[in-house]
Amino acid sequence: MKIAPFKVEDWMNEYEKYSIYDLGNTTVQTLSLDELFELTGENKQEFFDNLSKQKLGYGYIKGLPAFKTGVKNLYNTIETDDIIPTIGAAGANHLVFYSLVEPSDRVISVIPTYQQLYSIPQSFGADVKYLRLTPENKFLPDLDELKKLVNEKTKLICINNPNNPSGSLIDEKTLQEIIEIARSVNAYILSDEVYRGLNLTDEYTPSVADLYEKGISVCSMSKIFSLAGVRLGWIACKDNEAMGKFIRHREYNMISCSLLDENIAALALKHYDKIIGRNKIAIRKCFEILDNWVAGQKHISYTKPRAGTTAMLYYDFDMTSEELCDRLAKEKGVFLTPGFCFETEHCFRVGYCKSPDVLKQGLEKISDFIQELN
Ligand SMILES: Cc1ncc(COP(=O)(O)O)c(C=O)c1O
Repeated sequence: MKIAPFKVEDWMNEYEKYSIYDLGNTTVQTLSLDELFELTGENKQEFFDNLSKQKLGYGYIKGLPAFKTGVKNLYNTIETDDIIPTIGAAGANHLVFYSLVEPSDRVISVIPTYQQLYSIPQSFGADVKYLRLTPENKFLPDLDELKKLVNEKTKLICINNPNNPSGSLIDEKTLQEIIEIARSVNAYILSDEVYRGLNLTDEYTPSVADLYEKGISVCSMSKIFSLAGVRLGWIACKDNEAMGKFIRHREYNMISCSLLDENIAALALKHYDKIIGRNKIAIRKCFEILDNWVAGQKHISYTKPRAGTTAMLYYDFDMTSEELCDRLAKEKGVFLTPGFCFETEHCFRVGYCKSPDVLKQGLEKISDFIQELN
Protein backbone atom coordinates (compact mmCIF):
# COMPACT_ATOMS: atom_id res chain seq x y z
CA MET A 1 0.00 0.00 0.00
CA LYS A 2 1.33 3.43 -0.96
CA ILE A 3 1.81 6.12 1.64
CA ALA A 4 3.29 9.64 1.37
CA PRO A 5 6.80 10.16 2.78
CA PHE A 6 6.61 11.30 6.42
CA LYS A 7 8.27 14.67 5.91
CA VAL A 8 9.08 15.56 9.53
CA GLU A 9 10.50 12.13 10.31
CA ASP A 10 12.53 12.07 7.07
CA TRP A 11 13.91 15.52 7.83
CA MET A 12 14.82 14.56 11.41
CA ASN A 13 16.54 11.38 10.27
CA GLU A 14 18.58 13.28 7.72
CA TYR A 15 19.50 16.40 9.67
CA GLU A 16 19.89 15.23 13.28
CA LYS A 17 23.51 14.42 12.49
CA TYR A 18 24.32 18.14 12.04
CA SER A 19 22.76 19.06 15.35
CA ILE A 20 24.90 20.95 17.82
CA TYR A 21 21.90 23.00 18.96
CA ASP A 22 18.91 20.70 18.94
CA LEU A 23 15.84 22.85 18.37
CA GLY A 24 14.27 20.13 16.27
CA ASN A 25 13.00 17.57 18.76
CA THR A 26 9.68 18.09 20.48
CA THR A 27 10.29 16.44 23.84
CA VAL A 28 10.83 18.30 27.13
CA GLN A 29 14.28 17.56 28.53
CA THR A 30 14.09 13.77 28.36
CA LEU A 31 14.48 11.86 31.63
CA SER A 32 16.92 9.04 32.34
CA LEU A 33 15.77 6.25 34.66
CA ASP A 34 18.05 7.63 37.38
CA GLU A 35 16.41 11.04 37.03
CA LEU A 36 12.95 9.45 37.07
CA PHE A 37 13.68 7.71 40.39
CA GLU A 38 15.21 10.83 41.85
CA LEU A 39 12.25 12.99 40.82
CA THR A 40 9.59 10.55 42.04
CA GLY A 41 11.39 9.45 45.21
CA GLU A 42 10.59 5.79 44.40
CA ASN A 43 12.96 3.05 45.56
CA LYS A 44 14.97 2.01 42.50
CA GLN A 45 16.41 -1.17 44.02
CA GLU A 46 13.02 -2.41 45.13
CA PHE A 47 11.45 -1.59 41.77
CA PHE A 48 14.06 -3.51 39.79
CA ASP A 49 14.12 -6.42 42.27
CA ASN A 50 10.37 -6.84 41.76
CA LEU A 51 10.62 -6.40 38.01
CA SER A 52 13.43 -8.96 37.76
CA LYS A 53 11.21 -11.61 39.33
CA GLN A 54 8.42 -11.17 36.80
CA LYS A 55 8.12 -13.69 33.99
CA LEU A 56 8.57 -11.94 30.68
CA GLY A 57 5.52 -13.33 28.95
CA TYR A 58 3.04 -11.27 26.96
CA GLY A 59 1.80 -9.82 30.22
CA TYR A 60 -1.71 -8.41 30.34
CA ILE A 61 -2.97 -8.44 26.76
CA LYS A 62 -5.22 -5.44 27.33
CA GLY A 63 -2.67 -3.60 29.46
CA LEU A 64 -1.06 -3.75 32.90
CA PRO A 65 -3.76 -2.75 35.45
CA ALA A 66 -1.43 -0.29 37.26
CA PHE A 67 -0.67 1.41 33.93
CA LYS A 68 -4.34 1.69 33.04
CA THR A 69 -5.22 3.06 36.47
CA GLY A 70 -2.54 5.72 36.03
CA VAL A 71 -3.94 6.65 32.62
CA LYS A 72 -7.54 6.71 33.93
CA ASN A 73 -6.47 9.34 36.48
CA LEU A 74 -5.60 11.74 33.65
CA TYR A 75 -9.30 11.90 32.69
CA ASN A 76 -12.54 12.74 34.51
CA THR A 77 -14.97 10.14 33.18
CA ILE A 78 -12.78 7.44 31.62
CA GLU A 79 -12.69 3.95 33.19
CA THR A 80 -9.85 1.45 32.81
CA ASP A 81 -11.97 -0.54 30.32
CA ASP A 82 -12.03 2.57 28.10
CA ILE A 83 -8.24 2.47 27.67
CA ILE A 84 -6.15 0.53 25.16
CA PRO A 85 -2.34 0.62 25.43
CA THR A 86 -0.43 1.02 22.18
CA ILE A 87 3.13 1.49 20.99
CA GLY A 88 3.40 5.24 21.42
CA ALA A 89 0.84 7.75 20.25
CA ALA A 90 2.10 6.89 16.77
CA GLY A 91 0.77 3.35 17.30
CA ALA A 92 -2.48 4.72 18.72
CA ASN A 93 -3.15 7.06 15.79
CA HIS A 94 -2.38 4.28 13.35
CA LEU A 95 -4.67 1.85 15.15
CA VAL A 96 -7.56 4.34 15.07
CA PHE A 97 -7.33 4.82 11.29
CA TYR A 98 -6.63 1.15 10.61
CA SER A 99 -9.72 0.17 12.61
CA LEU A 100 -12.22 2.81 11.53
CA VAL A 101 -11.48 4.20 8.09
CA GLU A 102 -12.97 2.66 4.95
CA PRO A 103 -12.13 3.81 1.41
CA SER A 104 -14.19 6.88 0.45
CA ASP A 105 -15.05 7.79 4.06
CA ARG A 106 -14.54 11.48 4.59
CA VAL A 107 -11.81 12.34 7.11
CA ILE A 108 -11.19 15.97 8.05
CA SER A 109 -7.84 16.90 9.54
CA VAL A 110 -6.41 20.14 10.80
CA ILE A 111 -3.23 21.16 9.05
CA PRO A 112 -0.43 21.89 9.99
CA THR A 113 -0.22 18.96 12.36
CA TYR A 114 1.51 15.62 12.84
CA GLN A 115 1.37 14.09 9.38
CA GLN A 116 -0.09 10.77 10.53
CA LEU A 117 -3.44 12.51 10.94
CA TYR A 118 -3.92 13.02 7.21
CA SER A 119 -1.45 10.78 5.38
CA ILE A 120 -2.57 7.51 6.99
CA PRO A 121 -6.28 7.97 6.15
CA GLN A 122 -5.22 9.09 2.65
CA SER A 123 -3.29 5.84 2.25
CA PHE A 124 -6.44 3.90 3.20
CA GLY A 125 -8.33 5.60 0.37
CA ALA A 126 -10.26 8.09 2.48
CA ASP A 127 -11.51 11.37 1.07
CA VAL A 128 -9.31 13.61 3.23
CA LYS A 129 -10.14 17.30 3.58
CA TYR A 130 -7.85 19.82 5.24
CA LEU A 131 -8.97 22.30 7.83
CA ARG A 132 -6.23 24.87 7.58
CA LEU A 133 -4.94 26.53 10.77
CA THR A 134 -3.49 29.96 10.04
CA PRO A 135 -1.55 32.55 12.02
CA GLU A 136 -4.36 35.02 11.20
CA ASN A 137 -6.73 32.80 13.19
CA LYS A 138 -4.16 32.04 15.94
CA PHE A 139 -3.81 28.53 14.50
CA LEU A 140 -7.31 27.64 15.74
CA PRO A 141 -9.90 25.76 13.65
CA ASP A 142 -12.26 27.94 11.65
CA LEU A 143 -15.64 26.50 12.62
CA ASP A 144 -17.54 27.89 9.63
CA GLU A 145 -15.02 26.16 7.41
CA LEU A 146 -15.45 22.93 9.38
CA LYS A 147 -19.23 23.12 8.96
CA LYS A 148 -18.74 23.35 5.20
CA LEU A 149 -16.40 20.34 5.15
CA VAL A 150 -18.53 17.85 7.08
CA ASN A 151 -21.05 15.67 5.28
CA GLU A 152 -22.93 12.46 6.02
CA LYS A 153 -19.89 10.39 4.95
CA THR A 154 -17.64 12.02 7.56
CA LYS A 155 -16.16 9.27 9.70
CA LEU A 156 -13.55 11.23 11.62
CA ILE A 157 -12.56 14.78 12.44
CA CYS A 158 -8.89 14.90 13.48
CA ILE A 159 -7.57 17.60 15.76
CA ASN A 160 -4.32 17.95 17.64
CA ASN A 161 -4.73 19.75 20.95
CA PRO A 162 -2.34 21.35 21.90
CA ASN A 163 -1.15 21.68 18.34
CA ASN A 164 2.24 20.59 17.05
CA PRO A 165 3.80 22.69 15.43
CA SER A 166 2.10 25.99 16.39
CA GLY A 167 1.54 25.50 20.13
CA SER A 168 -2.08 26.66 19.81
CA LEU A 169 -4.63 25.44 22.32
CA ILE A 170 -8.35 24.89 21.71
CA ASP A 171 -10.40 26.00 24.71
CA GLU A 172 -13.36 24.07 26.08
CA LYS A 173 -16.00 26.29 24.46
CA THR A 174 -14.51 25.82 20.99
CA LEU A 175 -14.04 22.12 21.64
CA GLN A 176 -17.76 21.88 22.50
CA GLU A 177 -18.60 23.62 19.22
CA ILE A 178 -16.42 21.16 17.28
CA ILE A 179 -18.21 18.34 19.10
CA GLU A 180 -21.61 19.75 18.09
CA ILE A 181 -20.50 19.79 14.44
CA ALA A 182 -19.20 16.21 14.71
CA ARG A 183 -22.39 15.09 16.44
CA SER A 184 -24.52 16.60 13.67
CA VAL A 185 -23.06 14.02 11.24
CA ASN A 186 -22.40 11.26 13.80
CA ALA A 187 -18.62 11.50 13.26
CA TYR A 188 -15.86 10.49 15.64
CA ILE A 189 -13.33 13.05 16.80
CA LEU A 190 -9.76 11.85 17.05
CA SER A 191 -7.87 14.27 19.26
CA ASP A 192 -4.12 13.76 19.38
CA GLU A 193 -3.45 14.99 22.91
CA VAL A 194 0.22 14.09 23.36
CA TYR A 195 1.00 17.57 24.74
CA ARG A 196 -2.12 17.86 26.93
CA GLY A 197 -1.36 19.61 30.21
CA LEU A 198 1.91 21.14 29.01
CA ASN A 199 0.37 24.60 29.14
CA LEU A 200 2.11 27.93 29.50
CA THR A 201 -0.69 29.14 31.78
CA ASP A 202 -2.49 27.23 34.53
CA GLU A 203 -5.71 26.57 32.63
CA TYR A 204 -7.03 23.01 32.56
CA THR A 205 -7.29 21.38 29.13
CA PRO A 206 -10.24 18.99 28.89
CA SER A 207 -9.93 15.83 26.86
CA VAL A 208 -12.28 15.09 24.00
CA ALA A 209 -12.79 11.61 25.48
CA ASP A 210 -14.40 13.18 28.56
CA LEU A 211 -16.58 15.60 26.61
CA TYR A 212 -17.85 13.57 23.67
CA GLU A 213 -19.42 10.10 23.51
CA LYS A 214 -17.58 9.52 20.21
CA GLY A 215 -14.38 11.27 21.29
CA ILE A 216 -11.10 9.39 20.90
CA SER A 217 -8.17 10.68 22.91
CA VAL A 218 -4.66 9.64 21.86
CA CYS A 219 -1.79 10.26 24.22
CA SER A 220 1.52 8.78 25.36
CA MET A 221 4.48 8.82 27.73
CA SER A 222 6.68 10.68 25.25
CA LYS A 223 6.05 14.39 25.84
CA ILE A 224 4.10 14.93 29.07
CA PHE A 225 6.30 12.44 30.93
CA SER A 226 9.56 13.07 29.00
CA LEU A 227 9.86 9.32 28.43
CA ALA A 228 9.77 8.83 24.64
CA GLY A 229 12.07 5.81 25.00
CA VAL A 230 9.26 4.07 26.86
CA ARG A 231 7.40 3.29 23.68
CA LEU A 232 3.99 3.39 25.23
CA GLY A 233 0.86 5.33 24.38
CA TRP A 234 -2.86 4.76 24.57
CA ILE A 235 -6.32 5.32 23.18
CA ALA A 236 -9.02 6.48 25.61
CA CYS A 237 -12.59 6.26 24.30
CA LYS A 238 -16.04 5.47 25.68
CA ASP A 239 -17.61 4.28 22.42
CA ASN A 240 -18.01 0.50 22.67
CA GLU A 241 -18.32 -0.09 18.96
CA ALA A 242 -15.04 1.72 18.20
CA MET A 243 -13.30 0.06 21.16
CA GLY A 244 -14.31 -3.37 19.85
CA LYS A 245 -12.76 -2.53 16.49
CA PHE A 246 -9.56 -1.23 18.09
CA ILE A 247 -9.17 -4.45 20.08
CA ARG A 248 -9.84 -6.66 17.07
CA HIS A 249 -7.34 -4.84 14.84
CA ARG A 250 -4.76 -4.63 17.63
CA GLU A 251 -4.78 -8.42 17.96
CA TYR A 252 -3.56 -8.61 14.37
CA ASN A 253 -0.59 -6.32 14.74
CA MET A 254 0.71 -6.18 18.29
CA ILE A 255 -0.92 -8.66 20.74
CA SER A 256 0.27 -6.73 23.80
CA CYS A 257 2.68 -3.94 24.76
CA SER A 258 6.05 -4.44 26.45
CA LEU A 259 5.66 -5.46 30.11
CA LEU A 260 8.92 -3.64 30.94
CA ASP A 261 7.65 -0.42 29.40
CA GLU A 262 4.31 -0.75 31.14
CA ASN A 263 5.95 -1.11 34.56
CA ILE A 264 8.10 1.99 34.10
CA ALA A 265 5.14 3.92 32.70
CA ALA A 266 2.94 2.89 35.64
CA LEU A 267 5.53 4.27 38.04
CA ALA A 268 5.77 7.56 36.13
CA LEU A 269 1.97 7.89 35.88
CA LYS A 270 1.69 7.52 39.67
CA HIS A 271 3.79 10.69 39.89
CA TYR A 272 2.07 12.70 37.15
CA ASP A 273 1.93 15.82 39.33
CA LYS A 274 5.66 15.85 39.99
CA ILE A 275 6.64 15.19 36.37
CA ILE A 276 4.20 17.62 34.79
CA GLY A 277 5.22 20.16 37.46
CA ARG A 278 8.88 19.80 36.46
CA ASN A 279 8.00 20.05 32.79
CA LYS A 280 5.75 23.08 33.16
CA ILE A 281 8.56 24.94 34.89
CA ALA A 282 10.91 23.90 32.08
CA ILE A 283 8.63 24.97 29.23
CA ARG A 284 7.79 28.32 30.85
CA LYS A 285 11.44 29.14 31.38
CA CYS A 286 12.27 28.20 27.79
CA PHE A 287 9.28 30.10 26.44
CA GLU A 288 10.53 33.26 28.15
CA ILE A 289 13.89 32.89 26.41
CA LEU A 290 12.22 32.31 23.05
CA ASP A 291 9.75 35.15 23.47
CA ASN A 292 12.48 37.65 24.42
CA TRP A 293 14.54 36.56 21.46
CA VAL A 294 11.64 36.90 18.98
CA ALA A 295 10.85 40.37 20.38
CA GLY A 296 14.36 41.49 19.42
CA GLN A 297 14.23 40.14 15.86
CA LYS A 298 13.42 42.39 12.90
CA HIS A 299 12.86 39.58 10.42
CA ILE A 300 11.03 37.03 12.58
CA SER A 301 7.47 37.03 13.88
CA TYR A 302 5.18 34.47 15.46
CA THR A 303 1.86 33.68 17.04
CA LYS A 304 2.79 33.05 20.65
CA PRO A 305 2.31 29.41 21.59
CA ARG A 306 -0.04 28.67 24.50
CA ALA A 307 0.93 25.06 25.12
CA GLY A 308 3.08 22.16 23.96
CA THR A 309 6.77 22.32 23.19
CA THR A 310 6.92 23.97 19.78
CA ALA A 311 6.27 27.26 17.99
CA MET A 312 6.09 28.29 14.34
CA LEU A 313 8.37 31.18 13.48
CA TYR A 314 7.79 33.16 10.27
CA TYR A 315 10.57 35.08 8.47
CA ASP A 316 10.25 37.88 5.92
CA PHE A 317 13.22 37.23 3.60
CA ASP A 318 13.18 35.38 0.33
CA MET A 319 14.35 31.82 0.95
CA THR A 320 12.52 28.52 1.06
CA SER A 321 12.15 26.92 4.47
CA GLU A 322 14.11 23.94 3.17
CA GLU A 323 17.11 26.06 2.18
CA LEU A 324 17.00 28.05 5.40
CA CYS A 325 16.94 24.99 7.66
CA ASP A 326 19.46 23.12 5.51
CA ARG A 327 21.92 26.00 5.75
CA LEU A 328 21.32 26.63 9.43
CA ALA A 329 22.04 22.96 10.12
CA LYS A 330 25.14 22.70 7.94
CA GLU A 331 26.63 26.15 8.55
CA LYS A 332 25.65 26.79 12.17
CA GLY A 333 24.77 23.39 13.66
CA VAL A 334 21.20 24.55 14.41
CA PHE A 335 18.72 21.74 13.98
CA LEU A 336 15.22 23.04 13.15
CA THR A 337 12.25 21.72 11.19
CA PRO A 338 11.30 23.60 8.01
CA GLY A 339 7.74 24.72 7.35
CA PHE A 340 7.48 22.63 4.19
CA CYS A 341 7.34 19.52 6.41
CA PHE A 342 3.99 20.94 7.56
CA GLU A 343 2.78 21.93 4.09
CA THR A 344 3.49 25.58 4.79
CA GLU A 345 6.21 28.06 3.78
CA HIS A 346 8.39 30.92 5.00
CA CYS A 347 8.41 29.52 8.48
CA PHE A 348 10.14 26.92 10.61
CA ARG A 349 9.29 25.00 13.75
CA VAL A 350 11.31 25.49 16.90
CA GLY A 351 11.21 22.78 19.54
CA TYR A 352 12.10 25.21 22.31
CA CYS A 353 11.88 23.07 25.46
CA LYS A 354 15.57 22.28 25.65
CA SER A 355 18.25 23.10 28.17
CA PRO A 356 18.13 26.92 28.41
CA ASP A 357 21.82 27.17 27.39
CA VAL A 358 21.31 25.17 24.18
CA LEU A 359 18.21 27.20 23.38
CA LYS A 360 19.96 30.55 23.91
CA GLN A 361 23.02 29.54 21.91
CA GLY A 362 20.94 28.06 19.08
CA LEU A 363 18.82 31.21 18.83
CA GLU A 364 21.96 33.37 18.80
CA LYS A 365 23.26 31.30 15.89
CA ILE A 366 20.03 31.98 14.00
CA SER A 367 20.47 35.74 14.67
CA ASP A 368 24.05 35.53 13.33
CA PHE A 369 22.87 33.74 10.22
CA ILE A 370 20.17 36.33 9.47
CA GLN A 371 22.61 39.17 10.06
CA GLU A 372 25.09 37.64 7.65
CA LEU A 373 22.37 37.55 4.97
CA ASN A 374 21.88 41.31 5.15
C1 LIG B 1 1.32 15.43 17.70
C2 LIG B 1 2.11 14.16 17.84
N1 LIG B 1 1.46 12.99 17.84
C3 LIG B 1 2.10 11.83 17.96
C4 LIG B 1 3.48 11.79 18.08
C5 LIG B 1 4.15 10.46 18.24
O1 LIG B 1 4.46 10.31 19.61
P1 LIG B 1 4.90 8.95 20.28
O2 LIG B 1 6.33 9.11 20.66
O3 LIG B 1 4.04 8.82 21.49
O4 LIG B 1 4.68 7.85 19.32
C6 LIG B 1 4.21 12.99 18.06
C7 LIG B 1 5.67 12.98 18.12
O5 LIG B 1 6.36 13.95 17.94
C8 LIG B 1 3.50 14.21 17.96
O6 LIG B 1 4.13 15.39 17.98
